[in-house]
Amino acid sequence: MLKIIPKSILLLCFHLLTLIPPTKSRFLDTRCDDGNYTANSNYQINLNSVISSLASATTTATNGFFNRSAGQPPDTVNAFVLCRGDVDPDTCRRCVNDSFDMAERYCPYRKRATVWYDDCMLRFSNETILGSVDTNGRVIYTQDNLQNADELYQAMRPLIDRLKTEAAGGDSRRKFASGDTPGPGFMTVYGVMQCTPELSEDECYNCLESAVNQIPIYRSSDVRILYPSCILRYSSSRFFNATVALSPPPTEALAPPPRLPLPSPPPPDNRNNKTIIITVVTITIIFMILCLVFFCIFTRRKRKLGMNSNLVHEQGEVDEISTAKSLQISFDVIKASTGNFSENNKLGDGGFGVVYKGKLENGKEIAVKRLSRGSGQGEQEFVNEVLLLARLQHRNLVRLLGFSLEGSERLLMYEFVQNASLDKFIFHPARRMILNWERRYKIIAGIARGVLYLHEDSRLKIIHRDLKASNVLLDAEMIPKIADFGTARLFTPEESQANTFRIVGTYGYMAPEYALYGQLSVKSDVYSFGVLLLEIITGRNNHTLQNGAVIEDLLSHAWKCWRNGRAASLIDPTLKDGSNSIRDMIRCIHIGLLCVQEDASDRPTMASVVLMLGSSSITLAVPSEPAFVTQTGTNPNPGKPLPKGYTSTTTISNNL
Ligand SMILES: *[C@@H]1O[C@H](CO)[C@@H](O)[C@H](O)[C@H]1NC(C)=O
Ligand SMILES: *[C@@H]1O[C@H](CO)[C@@H](O)[C@H](O)[C@H]1NC(C)=O
Ligand SMILES: *[C@@H]1O[C@H](CO)[C@@H](O)[C@H](O)[C@H]1NC(C)=O
Ligand SMILES: *[C@@H]1O[C@H](CO)[C@@H](O)[C@H](O)[C@H]1NC(C)=O
Ligand SMILES: *[C@@H]1O[C@H](CO)[C@@H](O)[C@H](O)[C@H]1NC(C)=O
Repeated sequence: MLKIIPKSILLLCFHLLTLIPPTKSRFLDTRCDDGNYTANSNYQINLNSVISSLASATTTATNGFFNRSAGQPPDTVNAFVLCRGDVDPDTCRRCVNDSFDMAERYCPYRKRATVWYDDCMLRFSNETILGSVDTNGRVIYTQDNLQNADELYQAMRPLIDRLKTEAAGGDSRRKFASGDTPGPGFMTVYGVMQCTPELSEDECYNCLESAVNQIPIYRSSDVRILYPSCILRYSSSRFFNATVALSPPPTEALAPPPRLPLPSPPPPDNRNNKTIIITVVTITIIFMILCLVFFCIFTRRKRKLGMNSNLVHEQGEVDEISTAKSLQISFDVIKASTGNFSENNKLGDGGFGVVYKGKLENGKEIAVKRLSRGSGQGEQEFVNEVLLLARLQHRNLVRLLGFSLEGSERLLMYEFVQNASLDKFIFHPARRMILNWERRYKIIAGIARGVLYLHEDSRLKIIHRDLKASNVLLDAEMIPKIADFGTARLFTPEESQANTFRIVGTYGYMAPEYALYGQLSVKSDVYSFGVLLLEIITGRNNHTLQNGAVIEDLLSHAWKCWRNGRAASLIDPTLKDGSNSIRDMIRCIHIGLLCVQEDASDRPTMASVVLMLGSSSITLAVPSEPAFVTQTGTNPNPGKPLPKGYTSTTTISNNL
């Protein structure tokens, strides 16, 4: 008897969760195309007649797809309604009714419009709209910037493939598929795909395929990709009616009731034991009731939030959800913000293009990178890459705020970082004083965390390729922010770790295997980081020139001092005065030397670098001679001298 109570409470809880009455369908977005009709024109009359005909159609048929046409050219109106495959006729009708209102509200007097709701889509036009694939649509997603988005995506792959095939394989009345799959942690992912049913199998498949390709951009647990020809949604919450949608209700998805150690039946007449049992059971019941209350409040709050954000969206604010287009900014606006790319606003001439300072109309300062031409990348690829980069957000990375595209002109808009780049401080006779050891140590650690994020924490595994002092910016609080990450991706799309024939980077910071053989890996960045670290501590440029000639390069010098036990002599004299952190500085030099080891496999990963920097109790490996100290080893042509430019200041990335 006592066992039954908590069970029934659980059951009740499940019922409450599953039997929540259907709410109004959620309005998502519209697409209004150019071309207006006038009030009381034939077109309007035809449109009204088509719409009322569709409205009455939804009350009868059951496939969720209805098409109607009315009028003679040029005033013909074609329209269709597509309700999500699992939606019942009643909901479908209400949704269609609402979407007519939204079309009038958001696309007044437009001949052509598309309206997306959660449960249905309405489209009308003066042209033929069925029979061809249209993928000019909208993306709506919750901005939760999932940490485990990669795992989620991997877990979803089989479901995605299944739904694509299943939906495309549907007949001419219905092309719809839904399902779920376990995701990372205790998450279950629910997915739905649907095409307008008149499409051929291939057309439907292709449409869904291009929707699927958008998924990785959003790192979100709830994404809707809305095209006029097909629709895709996945979510970590169940948003469709699984009963209708054929797949079995995912009972495993709900966490099994906690297995509490149940008391064994008490021996008769043992009052003491009985009291204990009653106490345990009472506590269990109270616990479960609390669970239930908490659960119900939580779901109610979630629902309320959902409805609020709906309102927010209707008012035109993009707060919780936003569309992919929101990052695209008009070329003219950016151009004007930089004073038409005036020389006065030029901040620098980095790899891949010139950087300008800009000021938007609202007073916000930005940095604008005008990419040099000839990236060879298509527009859509470019946009996709930029969206991916914009998702990378880390305290130690300069934030990408937007982009602009016009013809062959491509602009990237970044947050403006207050102070100059790191090289303007550490190599400057007076300003280097500002950077005391504490600050330099924080800068080193910050750069390391930023690079680690690029290497491991972002789904993309970005190799920076051009890590150097001038690519590290300092903000008002001297927090380092890495600039120019991922820009190489905009130029050379599909390389990641393969051999690359287009070598991008700065000699002196480039790992030997990359400079000589084009072998690119995360360890190339570790090498550059090592050089940078040594520069920060020594205050010496890796390629100090004296009378126009390269004097001994930093790495050889550092190694010599280290080997002869004079590591302390490397430290920037302005740091040493009265400092009691010499040991820490030497430890940093040690880490720097490990990073510039000749053999990439001897270099630590950025994760271990961060660990080593964070704890002085970790024992460090003994470094051996760094790369390029001797004239053998990495030299591909033994006997011949190394490439001359290697220690020079040439930045070859500018010319590529
Ligand atoms: C539809 O309307 C647009 C805009 O008014 C017009 O350019 C186009 O020619 C029309 N198409 C047809 C088939 O009438
Ligand atoms: C069409 O109507 C919309 C909304 O009323 C208006 O913003 C737009 O300027 C009109 N376009 C033309 C060509 O009249
Ligand atoms: C939508 O529903 C409302 C109320 O049920 C009704 O007055 C209205 O005419 C409907 N709109 C259409 C286009 O059927
Ligand atoms: C559109 O509707 C007409 C009749 O109203 C029907 O004959 C035609 O098959 C429909 N087209 C599609 C693709 O469903
Ligand atoms: C799911 O669909 C079935 C069949 O139409 C219906 O009986 C059931 O009430 C629906 N459930 C929900 C939660 O809408």
